[in-house]
Amino acid sequence: MDQFDVVVIGAGAAGMMCAAEAGKRGRSVLVLDHAAKPGEKIRISGGGRCNFTNLNAAPANFISRNPSFAISALRRYTQRDFIALVERYGIAYHEKTLGQLFCDGSSKQIVDLLLNEMRRANTELRLSTSVDTVEKTPDGFALTLSQGAVRCRSLVVATGGKSIPKMGATGFGYDLAQQFGLPIVETRPALVPLTLEPSMLERLAPLAGVAVDAVAGCGKTTFAEALLFTHRGLSGPAILQISSYWREGDEIVLSMLPGVDLFEELREARAQNGRQALQTALSAFLPKRLAQLIAEAEKGPANLADHSDKRLRAIAETVNRWRFKPAGSEGYRTAEVTLGGVDTRHLDSRTMEAKAVPGLYFIGEVVDVTGWLGGYNFQWAWSSGWCAGQAA
Ligand code: FDA
Repeated sequence: MDQFDVVVIGAGAAGMMCAAEAGKRGRSVLVLDHAAKPGEKIRISGGGRCNFTNLNAAPANFISRNPSFAISALRRYTQRDFIALVERYGIAYHEKTLGQLFCDGSSKQIVDLLLNEMRRANTELRLSTSVDTVEKTPDGFALTLSQGAVRCRSLVVATGGKSIPKMGATGFGYDLAQQFGLPIVETRPALVPLTLEPSMLERLAPLAGVAVDAVAGCGKTTFAEALLFTHRGLSGPAILQISSYWREGDEIVLSMLPGVDLFEELREARAQNGRQALQTALSAFLPKRLAQLIAEAEKGPANLADHSDKRLRAIAETVNRWRFKPAGSEGYRTAEVTLGGVDTRHLDSRTMEAKAVPGLYFIGEVVDVTGWLGGYNFQWAWSSGWCAGQAA
């Protein structure tokens, strides 16, 4: 039976970072993945350009039952550390918006960087290999694999979340945590498009493909980003962000013209040119199809002059305080991440080691730490992976 100091399950962002770091410390490291290729989520991330971190990454950008858990890891390995690594490899990048850093070229460059770091640290990678059983031994862990068996002193679980099951996402990490007595904070799809009731969907069907800059709010949380109408419901960064805070039955409030007092603007337009059609006046502020839908929904007079202040106020309210209850979300099929995961109260925030099971580590998305959209989830993978790599 092969013996290693460290076995990492999952050759994703967190697992590869951890393996390279542990290898640099002279540990013998084996990385296992049931997929045929490493880092597949990195490859498809950021539209193929990998939004690998965020200049502004801070604990406040992460959701967890224990919001202070991520502080230590994010401080120990920061976005600046990962940017320095990217620069050492000569990978060109740019800030797209809101501190989000993307490769100029391809996300494959980030996968290659990690594979190279692992090679330089003499780690072994076995792909198309699944783990059948894990058992505790007096000095570590024994694993039976689809091919053979291995033993290790430290076991690092980096199997990610449940999103995009067709890419091989499983609940394996959660099951393993439970096997060792670690509770799971309820998991749910996050950074996911929201769906609408059939009647509302039918009404909004003409808007599929229309995008606006919006503010999406749920309870006290708001995000100002783009909103996209789709043929299934609503998507775009503003909706993906707010989906992480939304629960079934909650109302979402959308402002599709943030910062504009539309009532005053329409009143002004009426005073200037009362014969102007409502739709034309709205088109000055909104995409044409959206303006048309709102004007048609009015079913009243077409000209501004025929609209009372009360009507104009109601129209402005529709545009800037549209309240609705989503029917649901598109689920794990399209979710970028999984909210919840291994309960952080049972992990050491400096090393990611299970407090009650020495030698067992959980890193990356499988842990109950979920970032906003914008490079934060990879930063969590790098930070938590790096920390475990210093200790395992
Ligand atoms: P990750 O999912 O990367 O890796 C887990 C690995 O474990 C996989 O290789 C999997 O095959 C393996 N595995 C699972 N079960 C196993 C088992 N039973 N046995 C063996 N191996 C197993 N984030 C971001 O910051 N910027 C971005 O641009 C994007 N973009 C993006 C796009 C899309 C479409 C998605 C779905 C997600 C993103 N994300 C993102 C989120 C980001 O991809 C995610 O948070 C990280 O990949 C999580 O890293 P992990 O290493 O924890 O899991």
